[in-house]
Amino acid sequence: MASSLWGGRFEKEMDELVKEFNASIGFDQRMYQEDIDGSIAHVTMLAEQGIVSADEAECIVKGLEEIRQDIHSGKLAFTVDDEDIHMGIERHLIERIGEVGKKLHTARSRNDQCQVDGRLYLRHQIDEIQGRLKQLLEIILEKAEKYADEISIGFTHLQHAQPVTLGFIFMAYFQMFKRDVQRLQDCRERLNYSPLGACALAGTTFPTNRQRTAELLGFAGPTENAMDSVSDRDYSLEFLSCASISMMHLSRWAEEFTWWNSSEFSYIELDDSFCTGSSIMPQKKNPDMAELLRGKVGRVYGDLMQLLTVMKGTPLAYNKDFQEDKESLFDAVDTWKSSITIFAKMLEKTEFRVDQIRSQLGKGFLNATDIAEHLAMRGIPFREAHSIVGRMVKECEKENCSLEELPEEILCKIDNRLSKDMLGDISIPACVNARISYGGTAPSEVRRQIAKEREWL
Ligand code: ARG
Repeated sequence: MASSLWGGRFEKEMDELVKEFNASIGFDQRMYQEDIDGSIAHVTMLAEQGIVSADEAECIVKGLEEIRQDIHSGKLAFTVDDEDIHMGIERHLIERIGEVGKKLHTARSRNDQCQVDGRLYLRHQIDEIQGRLKQLLEIILEKAEKYADEISIGFTHLQHAQPVTLGFIFMAYFQMFKRDVQRLQDCRERLNYSPLGACALAGTTFPTNRQRTAELLGFAGPTENAMDSVSDRDYSLEFLSCASISMMHLSRWAEEFTWWNSSEFSYIELDDSFCTGSSIMPQKKNPDMAELLRGKVGRVYGDLMQLLTVMKGTPLAYNKDFQEDKESLFDAVDTWKSSITIFAKMLEKTEFRVDQIRSQLGKGFLNATDIAEHLAMRGIPFREAHSIVGRMVKECEKENCSLEELPEEILCKIDNRLSKDMLGDISIPACVNARISYGGTAPSEVRRQIAKEREWL
């Protein structure tokens, strides 16, 4: 008989290389708290159902709590012989409390156990990540309030498009990260069901109470089908999808930070504490945090792809392939958490160089659409108005002037219905202030958005 907890039918010990290759203890010990919580709920239920005695349960719970303390304080360290966190804790429990410890693994399997751990772990991480996202949203709101009236440039195709307020740009990103919080909430609600008691794949002959363990662990209820419970990882995939989308949002804003920070734009001054220097060029102050944030998304997409690929084509029910569900998940959790926090701090400390932004407002005919709209409101069909303003822009380029500077006689030449009067007030602030449509960029409208989102937050 081999020495492992499952060694009864084996004559030989595991090959050392196999032991290393097989073990997940190196990474799944991260879930020791969840594993112990799951075991305590399980043995509590076993006692309530009369499957173990109250004394036995008490002894097991006490042993588990001691193990929790010892892991926490670093007194208890695992080795590859422990195979995974579930066997590691069980082995230490048996060593510590003796024979009674062998009763803990009644009416459960590592197949459901690792799923309980995974779901509890993610539930906890989701709460934490939502908290971090909300801190970021708070900073965005503060910035949006501060710059609600400050006029900036809205780009399409990275070309000057229309004037918008800086507050409006912040609120655009607010919506993305708000949806990230909500998406995580959906993910949390769907994963918050307990697989405990599904056992290896088919349930058990013991008179267990899965509703009770679900309740003890704060799940909304037990999962419905034992085979599904041990064999899908869609909740992790959903989490990784949420992470990928949110990291994509961060990378987009990080990209804007890098060009806002460029010598050509100089819209922002990054805080020294968020930049690095060059080992050769003494003048350099590089936006490394923004670039790293832009790049980190690659890891998280990779994490999602890794697990999607692991799961593809796997038959029911549990397969050892599924042990490969953890490292990428942990990597995504760590990367996402640190990215949100770094980004939030970078944003908080960034100085917006409004004078520099203002000095660019005269370029790129930002008010062209507004003129077309004014003409359309005065009875010229919009398509025609669009073409008239297009010709005005062409004249401006020839004359090297702005739209408001085009002389009356050129206006008349373009279209005899045109006059300075007809163009109305096309100053950049007037254009911004007039965009009061719901969700538009007018400061009044941005303030409405801020008030609404503050309420939500
Ligand atoms: N370490 C394993 C995992 O993470 C636990 C489940 C092992 N189950 C088994 N039948 N070998 O997937």
